[in-house]
Amino acid sequence: MASFQKVFAIFVIISGSCYAEDLVSYDEWWGPEGSSPENDTSIRPFTVQFDENIITDLKYRLNHHRNFTSPLNDSAFTYGFNSDSLQSWLTYWSDTYNFTERETYLNQFPQYKTNVQGLDIHFIRVTPEVPSGVEVVPLLLLHGWPGSVREFFKAIPLLTAVDDDRDFAVEVIAPSLPGFGFSDPATRPGLGSSEMAVILRNFMFRLGYSKFYVQGGDWGAYIATDMCTLFPQEVIGFHTNLALSLSPVSLGVWALGSILPSAVVDSSVQDRMYPLLNIVEGLLRELGYLHLQTTKPDTVGIAMSASPAGLLAYILQLFSMATTRDNNNKADGGLTDTFSREELLDNLMIYWMTNSFTTSARLYSETFNIRNVKMGIYAMPTSVPMWSVHAKNELVYQSPTVLKFKFTNHIHATILDEFGHFLALQAPGVFAEDVLKAITAFRNCSINNICVHAS
Ligand SMILES: *[C@@H]1O[C@H](CO)[C@@H](O)[C@H](O)[C@H]1NC(C)=O
Ligand SMILES: *[C@@H]1O[C@H](CO)[C@@H](O)[C@H](O)[C@H]1NC(C)=O
Ligand SMILES: *[C@@H]1O[C@H](CO)[C@@H](O)[C@H](O)[C@H]1NC(C)=O
Ligand SMILES: *[C@@H]1O[C@H](CO)[C@@H](O)[C@H](O)[C@H]1NC(C)=O
Ligand SMILES: *[C@@H]1O[C@H](CO)[C@@H](O)[C@H](O)[C@H]1NC(C)=O
Repeated sequence: MASFQKVFAIFVIISGSCYAEDLVSYDEWWGPEGSSPENDTSIRPFTVQFDENIITDLKYRLNHHRNFTSPLNDSAFTYGFNSDSLQSWLTYWSDTYNFTERETYLNQFPQYKTNVQGLDIHFIRVTPEVPSGVEVVPLLLLHGWPGSVREFFKAIPLLTAVDDDRDFAVEVIAPSLPGFGFSDPATRPGLGSSEMAVILRNFMFRLGYSKFYVQGGDWGAYIATDMCTLFPQEVIGFHTNLALSLSPVSLGVWALGSILPSAVVDSSVQDRMYPLLNIVEGLLRELGYLHLQTTKPDTVGIAMSASPAGLLAYILQLFSMATTRDNNNKADGGLTDTFSREELLDNLMIYWMTNSFTTSARLYSETFNIRNVKMGIYAMPTSVPMWSVHAKNELVYQSPTVLKFKFTNHIHATILDEFGHFLALQAPGVFAEDVLKAITAFRNCSINNICVHAS
Protein backbone atom coordinates (compact mmCIF):
# COMPACT_ATOMS: atom_id res chain seq x y z
CA MET A 1 0.00 0.00 0.00
CA ALA A 2 2.70 2.47 1.01
CA SER A 3 4.72 2.18 -2.18
CA PHE A 4 1.56 2.31 -4.23
CA GLN A 5 0.71 5.59 -2.51
CA LYS A 6 4.17 6.99 -3.21
CA VAL A 7 3.93 6.23 -6.91
CA PHE A 8 0.62 8.01 -7.09
CA ALA A 9 1.89 10.94 -5.06
CA ILE A 10 4.74 11.39 -7.53
CA PHE A 11 2.27 11.16 -10.40
CA VAL A 12 0.13 13.90 -8.84
CA ILE A 13 3.08 16.16 -8.18
CA ILE A 14 4.28 15.80 -11.77
CA SER A 15 0.87 16.30 -13.31
CA GLY A 16 0.30 19.19 -10.91
CA SER A 17 3.45 20.98 -11.95
CA CYS A 18 2.45 20.69 -15.62
CA TYR A 19 -0.58 22.78 -14.86
CA ALA A 20 1.06 25.07 -12.34
CA GLU A 21 1.36 28.13 -14.59
CA ASP A 22 -1.33 30.55 -15.64
CA LEU A 23 -3.90 28.78 -13.52
CA VAL A 24 -5.84 31.75 -12.38
CA SER A 25 -5.55 35.49 -12.90
CA TYR A 26 -4.46 37.47 -9.86
CA ASP A 27 -6.32 40.63 -10.78
CA GLU A 28 -9.42 39.62 -12.73
CA TRP A 29 -12.16 42.24 -12.57
CA TRP A 30 -15.47 40.90 -11.28
CA GLY A 31 -17.35 44.15 -10.93
CA PRO A 32 -19.63 45.81 -13.47
CA GLU A 33 -18.11 46.46 -16.90
CA GLY A 34 -16.31 49.77 -17.13
CA SER A 35 -16.62 50.57 -13.44
CA SER A 36 -13.92 52.19 -11.37
CA PRO A 37 -10.80 52.60 -13.50
CA GLU A 38 -9.26 54.21 -10.40
CA ASN A 39 -9.38 51.29 -8.00
CA ASP A 40 -10.98 52.19 -4.71
CA THR A 41 -8.75 50.88 -1.92
CA SER A 42 -10.65 52.47 0.96
CA ILE A 43 -11.88 50.49 3.96
CA ARG A 44 -15.28 51.80 4.99
CA PRO A 45 -17.15 51.11 8.25
CA PHE A 46 -20.36 49.15 7.73
CA THR A 47 -23.41 48.42 9.85
CA VAL A 48 -26.22 45.96 9.17
CA GLN A 49 -29.51 47.73 8.64
CA PHE A 50 -32.76 45.82 8.36
CA ASP A 51 -34.76 47.90 5.90
CA GLU A 52 -38.29 48.63 7.18
CA ASN A 53 -39.89 48.01 3.79
CA ILE A 54 -38.18 44.66 3.49
CA ILE A 55 -39.34 43.66 6.99
CA THR A 56 -42.93 44.67 6.18
CA ASP A 57 -42.80 42.70 2.95
CA LEU A 58 -41.19 39.73 4.72
CA LYS A 59 -43.92 39.62 7.36
CA TYR A 60 -46.58 39.79 4.67
CA ARG A 61 -45.02 36.83 2.86
CA LEU A 62 -44.61 34.87 6.09
CA ASN A 63 -48.28 35.37 6.87
CA HIS A 64 -49.68 34.77 3.38
CA HIS A 65 -48.94 31.34 2.06
CA ARG A 66 -51.10 28.56 0.74
CA ASN A 67 -51.76 25.54 2.92
CA PHE A 68 -48.70 23.37 3.04
CA THR A 69 -48.99 19.84 1.75
CA SER A 70 -49.38 17.55 4.74
CA PRO A 71 -46.42 15.29 5.38
CA LEU A 72 -46.85 11.56 5.07
CA ASN A 73 -47.50 9.92 8.42
CA ASP A 74 -44.44 9.45 10.59
CA SER A 75 -42.12 10.69 7.87
CA ALA A 76 -40.42 13.17 10.24
CA PHE A 77 -37.69 14.92 8.17
CA THR A 78 -36.95 11.99 5.87
CA TYR A 79 -38.78 13.56 2.91
CA GLY A 80 -37.34 16.99 3.67
CA PHE A 81 -38.58 19.71 5.98
CA ASN A 82 -41.73 18.44 7.69
CA SER A 83 -44.49 20.97 7.02
CA ASP A 84 -46.17 20.21 10.35
CA SER A 85 -43.35 22.03 12.09
CA LEU A 86 -43.06 24.84 9.56
CA GLN A 87 -45.85 27.13 10.76
CA SER A 88 -44.31 27.60 14.19
CA TRP A 89 -41.12 28.86 12.54
CA LEU A 90 -42.98 31.28 10.29
CA THR A 91 -45.03 32.65 13.17
CA TYR A 92 -41.89 33.00 15.27
CA TRP A 93 -40.03 34.81 12.50
CA SER A 94 -42.91 37.18 11.88
CA ASP A 95 -44.13 37.82 15.44
CA THR A 96 -41.47 36.94 17.99
CA TYR A 97 -38.10 37.44 16.30
CA ASN A 98 -37.16 40.94 17.43
CA PHE A 99 -35.78 42.64 14.33
CA THR A 100 -34.50 45.66 16.26
CA GLU A 101 -32.73 43.59 18.84
CA ARG A 102 -31.26 41.20 16.26
CA GLU A 103 -29.98 44.05 14.14
CA THR A 104 -28.12 45.36 17.19
CA TYR A 105 -26.80 41.87 17.86
CA LEU A 106 -25.46 41.57 14.31
CA ASN A 107 -23.66 44.87 14.75
CA GLN A 108 -21.77 43.92 17.90
CA PHE A 109 -18.42 43.57 16.12
CA PRO A 110 -16.66 46.20 14.00
CA GLN A 111 -17.57 45.63 10.34
CA TYR A 112 -16.28 47.12 7.13
CA LYS A 113 -16.40 46.93 3.38
CA THR A 114 -13.57 47.24 0.94
CA ASN A 115 -13.50 46.80 -2.81
CA VAL A 116 -11.37 44.00 -4.24
CA GLN A 117 -11.24 43.35 -7.98
CA GLY A 118 -14.49 45.25 -8.46
CA LEU A 119 -16.43 43.62 -5.62
CA ASP A 120 -17.28 45.18 -2.27
CA ILE A 121 -16.26 42.64 0.34
CA HIS A 122 -17.97 42.85 3.72
CA PHE A 123 -16.04 41.71 6.76
CA ILE A 124 -15.90 41.60 10.52
CA ARG A 125 -12.57 42.56 12.03
CA VAL A 126 -11.88 42.16 15.72
CA THR A 127 -8.43 43.20 16.89
CA PRO A 128 -7.49 42.30 20.47
CA GLU A 129 -5.85 44.84 22.79
CA VAL A 130 -2.64 43.20 23.91
CA PRO A 131 0.03 43.94 26.54
CA SER A 132 3.57 44.39 25.27
CA GLY A 133 5.32 41.15 24.40
CA VAL A 134 2.15 39.65 22.95
CA GLU A 135 2.02 39.43 19.18
CA VAL A 136 -1.24 39.94 17.30
CA VAL A 137 -1.61 37.38 14.51
CA PRO A 138 -4.22 37.59 11.71
CA LEU A 139 -6.70 34.77 11.17
CA LEU A 140 -8.89 34.74 8.08
CA LEU A 141 -12.09 32.97 9.12
CA LEU A 142 -14.17 31.60 6.23
CA HIS A 143 -17.79 30.50 6.38
CA GLY A 144 -19.60 28.33 3.84
CA TRP A 145 -23.03 27.68 2.36
CA PRO A 146 -25.76 27.95 3.68
CA GLY A 147 -23.96 29.72 6.50
CA SER A 148 -22.59 33.19 6.99
CA VAL A 149 -20.34 35.19 9.30
CA ARG A 150 -23.12 34.66 11.88
CA GLU A 151 -21.75 31.15 12.50
CA PHE A 152 -18.72 32.66 14.25
CA PHE A 153 -20.36 35.12 16.65
CA LYS A 154 -19.92 33.02 19.78
CA ALA A 155 -16.43 31.89 18.79
CA ILE A 156 -15.04 35.35 17.99
CA PRO A 157 -14.69 36.55 21.62
CA LEU A 158 -13.03 33.23 22.53
CA LEU A 159 -10.65 33.38 19.58
CA THR A 160 -9.64 36.98 20.21
CA ALA A 161 -9.21 36.62 23.99
CA VAL A 162 -5.79 37.43 25.42
CA ASP A 163 -4.37 34.59 27.53
CA ASP A 164 -1.35 34.72 29.82
CA ASP A 165 -0.29 31.31 28.56
CA ARG A 166 0.11 32.50 24.99
CA ASP A 167 2.62 34.87 23.51
CA PHE A 168 0.16 35.73 20.76
CA ALA A 169 -3.44 36.84 20.40
CA VAL A 170 -5.63 36.34 17.37
CA GLU A 171 -7.11 39.08 15.24
CA VAL A 172 -10.20 37.69 13.55
CA ILE A 173 -10.99 38.77 10.01
CA ALA A 174 -14.23 37.16 8.87
CA PRO A 175 -15.44 38.18 5.40
CA SER A 176 -18.75 37.37 3.78
CA LEU A 177 -17.78 35.37 0.70
CA PRO A 178 -18.41 37.16 -2.63
CA GLY A 179 -22.07 36.68 -3.54
CA PHE A 180 -23.00 35.93 0.06
CA GLY A 181 -24.86 38.33 2.34
CA PHE A 182 -23.37 41.81 2.37
CA SER A 183 -20.57 41.09 -0.14
CA ASP A 184 -21.11 41.84 -3.81
CA PRO A 185 -21.71 39.01 -6.28
CA ALA A 186 -19.74 38.65 -9.51
CA THR A 187 -21.28 40.29 -12.56
CA ARG A 188 -19.93 37.65 -14.96
CA PRO A 189 -19.44 33.88 -14.94
CA GLY A 190 -16.36 32.19 -13.57
CA LEU A 191 -16.04 33.21 -9.92
CA GLY A 192 -15.44 29.78 -8.40
CA SER A 193 -13.47 28.61 -5.42
CA SER A 194 -10.01 29.27 -6.89
CA GLU A 195 -10.97 32.75 -8.03
CA MET A 196 -12.33 33.45 -4.54
CA ALA A 197 -9.02 32.25 -3.13
CA VAL A 198 -7.33 34.99 -5.18
CA ILE A 199 -9.83 37.64 -4.07
CA LEU A 200 -9.38 36.71 -0.41
CA ARG A 201 -5.59 36.77 -0.70
CA ASN A 202 -5.78 40.22 -2.30
CA PHE A 203 -8.25 41.21 0.41
CA MET A 204 -5.74 40.24 3.13
CA PHE A 205 -3.08 42.24 1.29
CA ARG A 206 -5.49 45.20 1.40
CA LEU A 207 -5.66 44.89 5.18
CA GLY A 208 -1.87 44.93 5.30
CA TYR A 209 -1.21 41.23 5.77
CA SER A 210 1.08 39.35 3.41
CA LYS A 211 1.15 36.34 5.75
CA PHE A 212 -1.78 35.00 7.73
CA TYR A 213 -3.56 31.95 9.12
CA VAL A 214 -6.77 30.63 7.59
CA GLN A 215 -9.63 28.71 9.16
CA GLY A 216 -12.53 27.30 7.20
CA GLY A 217 -15.33 24.76 7.16
CA ASP A 218 -17.63 23.86 4.28
CA TRP A 219 -16.90 26.18 1.30
CA GLY A 220 -14.56 28.10 3.57
CA ALA A 221 -12.47 24.93 3.80
CA TYR A 222 -12.59 24.36 0.05
CA ILE A 223 -11.54 27.93 -0.74
CA ALA A 224 -8.87 27.93 1.98
CA THR A 225 -7.50 24.72 0.49
CA ASP A 226 -7.15 26.51 -2.85
CA MET A 227 -5.44 29.39 -1.03
CA CYS A 228 -2.92 26.94 0.45
CA THR A 229 -2.31 25.43 -2.98
CA LEU A 230 -1.97 28.73 -4.82
CA PHE A 231 -0.35 30.83 -2.08
CA PRO A 232 1.88 28.69 0.13
CA GLN A 233 4.05 31.74 0.87
CA GLU A 234 1.12 33.69 2.28
CA VAL A 235 -0.78 31.06 4.27
CA ILE A 236 1.23 30.25 7.41
CA GLY A 237 -1.15 27.53 8.56
CA PHE A 238 -4.60 26.18 7.74
CA HIS A 239 -7.07 24.94 10.35
CA THR A 240 -10.18 23.23 9.08
CA ASN A 241 -13.25 21.51 10.41
CA LEU A 242 -13.87 19.94 7.00
CA ALA A 243 -10.61 18.48 5.77
CA LEU A 244 -11.31 17.25 2.28
CA SER A 245 -9.13 16.07 -0.53
CA LEU A 246 -10.81 15.48 -3.88
CA SER A 247 -7.46 14.59 -5.38
CA PRO A 248 -7.94 11.45 -7.50
CA VAL A 249 -5.18 9.74 -5.53
CA SER A 250 -6.91 10.41 -2.22
CA LEU A 251 -10.20 9.15 -3.60
CA GLY A 252 -8.46 6.13 -5.09
CA VAL A 253 -6.78 5.25 -1.82
CA TRP A 254 -10.09 5.70 0.00
CA ALA A 255 -11.76 3.31 -2.44
CA LEU A 256 -8.93 0.77 -2.33
CA GLY A 257 -9.05 0.89 1.45
CA SER A 258 -12.33 -1.00 1.22
CA ILE A 259 -10.20 -4.11 0.80
CA LEU A 260 -8.25 -3.48 3.98
CA PRO A 261 -9.66 -0.51 5.95
CA SER A 262 -7.06 -0.84 8.69
CA ALA A 263 -4.38 0.17 6.16
CA VAL A 264 -6.14 3.50 5.63
CA VAL A 265 -7.93 4.48 8.83
CA ASP A 266 -7.69 3.98 12.56
CA SER A 267 -10.20 1.41 13.82
CA SER A 268 -11.77 3.95 16.21
CA VAL A 269 -13.10 6.00 13.29
CA GLN A 270 -13.28 3.32 10.62
CA ASP A 271 -17.07 3.56 10.53
CA ARG A 272 -16.73 7.16 9.35
CA MET A 273 -15.15 5.91 6.08
CA TYR A 274 -16.34 2.34 5.57
CA PRO A 275 -18.28 0.50 4.29
CA LEU A 276 -17.75 2.95 1.45
CA LEU A 277 -21.04 2.04 -0.20
CA ASN A 278 -22.94 3.13 2.92
CA ILE A 279 -21.08 6.42 3.00
CA VAL A 280 -21.75 7.11 -0.69
CA GLU A 281 -25.38 6.09 -0.37
CA GLY A 282 -25.80 8.40 2.62
CA LEU A 283 -24.27 11.31 0.74
CA LEU A 284 -26.40 10.69 -2.35
CA ARG A 285 -29.49 10.73 -0.14
CA GLU A 286 -28.58 14.02 1.54
CA LEU A 287 -26.71 16.06 -1.05
CA GLY A 288 -29.34 16.51 -3.77
CA TYR A 289 -29.14 20.27 -3.25
CA LEU A 290 -25.50 20.11 -4.28
CA HIS A 291 -26.28 18.68 -7.70
CA LEU A 292 -29.13 21.15 -8.17
CA GLN A 293 -26.97 24.14 -7.33
CA THR A 294 -24.09 22.84 -9.38
CA THR A 295 -26.30 22.75 -12.45
CA LYS A 296 -29.28 25.15 -12.17
CA PRO A 297 -28.81 27.50 -9.21
CA ASP A 298 -30.85 30.29 -10.78
CA THR A 299 -34.01 28.20 -11.11
CA VAL A 300 -34.16 27.20 -7.46
CA GLY A 301 -33.05 30.73 -6.60
CA ILE A 302 -36.28 32.17 -8.00
CA ALA A 303 -38.33 30.20 -5.49
CA MET A 304 -35.97 31.00 -2.61
CA SER A 305 -36.16 34.69 -3.39
CA ALA A 306 -39.97 34.67 -3.52
CA SER A 307 -40.81 32.66 -0.44
CA PRO A 308 -39.27 33.04 3.01
CA ALA A 309 -41.07 29.82 3.98
CA GLY A 310 -39.30 28.06 1.14
CA LEU A 311 -35.95 29.60 2.02
CA LEU A 312 -36.37 28.61 5.66
CA ALA A 313 -37.38 25.04 4.86
CA TYR A 314 -34.58 24.58 2.32
CA ILE A 315 -31.80 25.97 4.50
CA LEU A 316 -32.92 24.74 7.92
CA GLN A 317 -33.46 21.22 6.63
CA LEU A 318 -29.74 21.27 5.80
CA PHE A 319 -28.83 22.62 9.24
CA SER A 320 -30.86 19.76 10.69
CA MET A 321 -29.32 17.00 8.57
CA ALA A 322 -25.75 18.31 8.75
CA THR A 323 -25.86 18.50 12.55
CA THR A 324 -26.72 14.83 12.82
CA ARG A 325 -28.40 12.43 10.43
CA ASP A 326 -30.52 11.23 13.38
CA ASN A 327 -32.38 14.51 13.05
CA ASN A 328 -34.05 13.09 9.94
CA ASN A 329 -36.08 10.90 12.26
CA LYS A 330 -37.30 13.70 14.50
CA ALA A 331 -40.67 15.29 13.78
CA ASP A 332 -39.20 18.80 14.17
CA GLY A 333 -35.81 17.97 12.67
CA GLY A 334 -34.16 18.42 16.07
CA LEU A 335 -33.27 21.99 15.15
CA THR A 336 -33.93 23.58 18.51
CA ASP A 337 -32.22 20.73 20.35
CA THR A 338 -28.98 22.25 19.14
CA PHE A 339 -29.59 25.82 18.01
CA SER A 340 -31.66 28.75 19.18
CA ARG A 341 -34.33 30.03 16.83
CA GLU A 342 -32.61 33.40 16.89
CA GLU A 343 -29.27 32.16 15.62
CA LEU A 344 -30.84 30.21 12.78
CA LEU A 345 -33.12 33.11 11.83
CA ASP A 346 -30.24 35.61 11.99
CA ASN A 347 -28.48 33.52 9.38
CA LEU A 348 -31.62 33.39 7.23
CA MET A 349 -32.03 37.15 7.57
CA ILE A 350 -28.58 37.62 6.05
CA TYR A 351 -29.73 35.67 2.97
CA TRP A 352 -33.22 37.17 2.83
CA MET A 353 -32.35 40.84 3.37
CA THR A 354 -29.63 40.80 0.76
CA ASN A 355 -31.60 38.50 -1.59
CA SER A 356 -28.38 36.57 -2.06
CA PHE A 357 -29.56 32.97 -2.23
CA THR A 358 -29.03 32.72 -5.99
CA THR A 359 -25.62 34.37 -6.09
CA SER A 360 -24.39 32.27 -3.16
CA ALA A 361 -25.69 29.04 -4.68
CA ARG A 362 -23.82 29.81 -7.90
CA LEU A 363 -20.55 29.04 -6.11
CA TYR A 364 -21.36 25.36 -6.72
CA SER A 365 -21.75 25.79 -10.49
CA GLU A 366 -18.71 28.05 -10.72
CA THR A 367 -16.52 25.50 -8.94
CA PHE A 368 -17.71 22.03 -9.87
CA ASN A 369 -17.25 22.28 -13.62
CA ILE A 370 -14.95 21.09 -16.38
CA ARG A 371 -12.99 24.32 -16.42
CA ASN A 372 -11.95 23.85 -12.79
CA VAL A 373 -11.26 20.17 -13.18
CA LYS A 374 -8.93 21.01 -16.07
CA MET A 375 -7.22 23.64 -13.95
CA GLY A 376 -6.48 20.80 -11.57
CA ILE A 377 -5.78 22.92 -8.50
CA TYR A 378 -7.83 20.58 -6.34
CA ALA A 379 -5.47 17.71 -7.19
CA MET A 380 -2.20 19.55 -6.52
CA PRO A 381 -0.53 18.87 -3.19
CA THR A 382 0.22 21.68 -0.77
CA SER A 383 2.82 21.73 1.98
CA VAL A 384 1.16 24.47 4.02
CA PRO A 385 0.87 23.15 7.60
CA MET A 386 -2.66 21.88 8.10
CA TRP A 387 -4.55 20.94 11.28
CA SER A 388 -7.94 19.34 11.10
CA VAL A 389 -10.75 18.81 13.59
CA HIS A 390 -13.33 16.15 12.83
CA ALA A 391 -16.78 16.42 14.37
CA LYS A 392 -18.54 13.09 14.79
CA ASN A 393 -21.37 13.93 12.43
CA GLU A 394 -19.42 15.84 9.81
CA LEU A 395 -20.60 15.02 6.29
CA VAL A 396 -17.30 13.45 5.27
CA TYR A 397 -14.37 12.00 7.15
CA GLN A 398 -11.03 11.37 5.48
CA SER A 399 -8.17 9.90 7.46
CA PRO A 400 -4.66 11.40 7.47
CA THR A 401 -3.59 8.57 5.13
CA VAL A 402 -6.09 9.78 2.55
CA LEU A 403 -5.55 13.48 3.16
CA LYS A 404 -1.77 13.40 2.85
CA PHE A 405 -1.87 13.26 -0.95
CA LYS A 406 -3.30 16.76 -0.86
CA PHE A 407 -1.93 18.01 2.45
CA THR A 408 1.64 16.80 2.66
CA ASN A 409 2.14 18.64 5.96
CA HIS A 410 -0.92 17.54 7.93
CA ILE A 411 0.34 17.99 11.45
CA HIS A 412 -2.62 16.91 13.54
CA ALA A 413 -6.19 15.57 13.43
CA THR A 414 -8.45 16.18 16.43
CA ILE A 415 -11.18 13.55 16.58
CA LEU A 416 -14.41 14.62 18.29
CA ASP A 417 -17.01 12.15 19.49
CA GLU A 418 -19.88 14.60 19.12
CA PHE A 419 -21.05 17.66 17.16
CA GLY A 420 -21.77 18.28 13.50
CA HIS A 421 -21.03 20.33 10.43
CA PHE A 422 -21.63 23.79 11.93
CA LEU A 423 -18.97 23.34 14.58
CA ALA A 424 -18.25 26.98 15.38
CA LEU A 425 -21.97 27.63 15.91
CA GLN A 426 -22.71 24.44 17.80
CA ALA A 427 -19.61 24.18 19.97
CA PRO A 428 -17.80 27.54 19.95
CA GLY A 429 -15.62 26.63 22.93
CA VAL A 430 -14.38 23.38 21.41
CA PHE A 431 -13.90 25.08 18.08
CA ALA A 432 -11.95 28.06 19.42
CA GLU A 433 -9.74 25.93 21.65
CA ASP A 434 -8.77 23.71 18.74
CA VAL A 435 -8.04 26.66 16.46
CA LEU A 436 -5.81 28.25 19.11
CA LYS A 437 -3.93 24.99 19.63
CA ALA A 438 -3.38 24.76 15.90
CA ILE A 439 -2.05 28.29 15.65
CA THR A 440 0.33 27.55 18.52
CA ALA A 441 1.63 24.58 16.56
CA PHE A 442 1.77 26.55 13.29
CA ARG A 443 3.90 29.15 15.04
CA ASN A 444 6.28 26.38 15.99
CA CYS A 445 6.44 25.49 12.31
CA SER A 446 7.07 28.98 11.04
CA ILE A 447 9.19 30.39 13.86
CA ASN A 448 11.20 27.38 15.05
CA ASN A 449 10.85 25.32 11.90
CA ILE A 450 9.63 22.48 14.13
CA CYS A 451 6.41 21.17 12.71
CA VAL A 452 5.08 18.72 15.25
CA HIS A 453 2.08 18.44 17.42
CA ALA A 454 2.53 19.14 21.11
CA SER A 455 0.60 16.26 22.65
C1 LIG B 1 -6.97 48.26 -10.75
O1 LIG B 1 -6.88 46.91 -10.35
C2 LIG B 1 -6.65 46.01 -11.40
C3 LIG B 1 -6.66 44.63 -10.80
O2 LIG B 1 -7.63 44.49 -9.82
C4 LIG B 1 -5.31 46.32 -12.04
O3 LIG B 1 -5.13 45.46 -13.13
C5 LIG B 1 -5.31 47.76 -12.52
O4 LIG B 1 -4.01 48.08 -12.96
C6 LIG B 1 -5.67 48.71 -11.39
N1 LIG B 1 -5.82 50.05 -11.88
C7 LIG B 1 -5.30 51.12 -11.29
C8 LIG B 1 -5.58 52.42 -11.94
O5 LIG B 1 -4.66 51.03 -10.27
C1 LIG C 1 -56.35 25.39 4.48
O1 LIG C 1 -56.41 24.90 5.81
C2 LIG C 1 -57.47 25.42 6.57
C3 LIG C 1 -57.29 24.93 7.98
O2 LIG C 1 -57.04 23.58 8.04
C4 LIG C 1 -58.78 24.98 5.94
O3 LIG C 1 -59.84 25.52 6.67
C5 LIG C 1 -58.85 25.47 4.52
O4 LIG C 1 -59.98 24.98 3.88
C6 LIG C 1 -57.62 25.04 3.74
N1 LIG C 1 -57.61 25.68 2.42
C7 LIG C 1 -57.49 25.02 1.30
C8 LIG C 1 -57.50 25.83 0.06
O5 LIG C 1 -57.36 23.81 1.28
C1 LIG D 1 -52.15 9.06 9.68
O1 LIG D 1 -52.23 9.45 11.04
C2 LIG D 1 -53.52 9.97 11.42
C3 LIG D 1 -53.42 10.51 12.82
O2 LIG D 1 -52.66 9.67 13.65
C4 LIG D 1 -54.54 8.86 11.27
O3 LIG D 1 -55.82 9.35 11.61
C5 LIG D 1 -54.55 8.37 9.83
O4 LIG D 1 -55.40 7.27 9.69
C6 LIG D 1 -53.15 7.96 9.38
N1 LIG D 1 -53.16 7.72 7.96
C7 LIG D 1 -52.61 6.67 7.40
C8 LIG D 1 -52.75 6.55 5.92
O5 LIG D 1 -52.03 5.82 8.05
C1 LIG E 1 -37.19 44.43 20.85
O1 LIG E 1 -35.92 44.74 21.35
C2 LIG E 1 -35.78 46.11 21.67
C3 LIG E 1 -34.32 46.35 21.97
O2 LIG E 1 -33.82 45.37 22.83
C4 LIG E 1 -36.71 46.46 22.81
O3 LIG E 1 -36.59 47.83 23.14
C5 LIG E 1 -38.13 46.14 22.39
O4 LIG E 1 -39.00 46.33 23.48
C6 LIG E 1 -38.25 44.71 21.89
N1 LIG E 1 -39.55 44.54 21.30
C7 LIG E 1 -40.37 43.60 21.69
C8 LIG E 1 -41.67 43.53 20.97
O5 LIG E 1 -40.09 42.81 22.58
C1 LIG F 1 7.05 23.08 19.56
O1 LIG F 1 8.22 22.34 19.28
C2 LIG F 1 8.87 21.83 20.44
C3 LIG F 1 10.16 21.14 20.01
O2 LIG F 1 9.88 19.98 19.27
C4 LIG F 1 7.97 20.92 21.18
O3 LIG F 1 8.59 20.50 22.37
C5 LIG F 1 6.69 21.65 21.53
O4 LIG F 1 5.80 20.75 22.13
C6 LIG F 1 6.05 22.21 20.28
N1 LIG F 1 4.87 22.96 20.63
C7 LIG F 1 3.78 22.91 19.90
C8 LIG F 1 2.62 23.66 20.41
O5 LIG F 1 3.70 22.30 18.85
